[in-house]
Amino acid sequence: MSLGIFDSGVGGLTVYRELAKQFPDTDLIYLGDTARVPYGNKSPDTIIRYATECASMLVKRHNVDALVVACNTISSYAIENLRSTFGLPVLGVIEAGAEMAMAVTKNNKIGVLGTIATVRSGAYIKALEEVSDGKAIVSQRACPLFVPLVEEGVITGEIPSLVIKMYLDELIADVDTLLLGCTHYPVLAPLLASIYPEVNIADSASMMVEHILAGGLATIESGKREIYVTDITPAFESLKSMLVGDIPMQEIDI
Ligand code: DGL
Repeated sequence: MSLGIFDSGVGGLTVYRELAKQFPDTDLIYLGDTARVPYGNKSPDTIIRYATECASMLVKRHNVDALVVACNTISSYAIENLRSTFGLPVLGVIEAGAEMAMAVTKNNKIGVLGTIATVRSGAYIKALEEVSDGKAIVSQRACPLFVPLVEEGVITGEIPSLVIKMYLDELIADVDTLLLGCTHYPVLAPLLASIYPEVNIADSASMMVEHILAGGLATIESGKREIYVTDITPAFESLKSMLVGDIPMQEIDI
């Protein structure tokens, strides 16, 4: 059994890290489309086209048994398309994130943070409504500057703190839980928690583990670890070593 995990860039490694911890013996092949990141400000058609190209590389060249879409923007627009194109199990992060948020909230007031495209899609609003049987009270905020801050490794100190406050000071009064609806944002979670110590923070990564187990997608073989990128960038290299250590990385053309 092997899982093909992909993202627009480095952020999906936050999901990869969690899966690598939980499934030491499952083959995990990662693709980050670093040459074309970010997807979060692209149109739905472009997001679907890029996602199909990434998935095709994992299915055709690596023969993966299932796809894990470790990108909220792609998960917001392309899951059904990928399922019908490839005929494989395709897991996205939206439902997992929504379930996690409902598991930690005390008053059902959830603040969804994501890219412009994810927020615009309304995918989290729909998923939270389904998961909570209509009980969730959802506010959303696009935080586009979080991605470049994480890509540049500016994740502590005054500058990211100011950006966080600019986006969230108003929203925070209305929610008890922040749902990190973008793969880069968990890297900022320690800073978010220090600025807003009262708030619960939810992301998709740990719930994805449950979904993979429930889908019987992690039966054991050789535990291969491979990471491919469409462009080797300094940001990817440094965040990769921070998140998953020295797993080998190779540049490919998709
Ligand atoms: N991976 C994207 C997401 O989770 C964030 C980066 C991007 O905009 O491509 O939405």
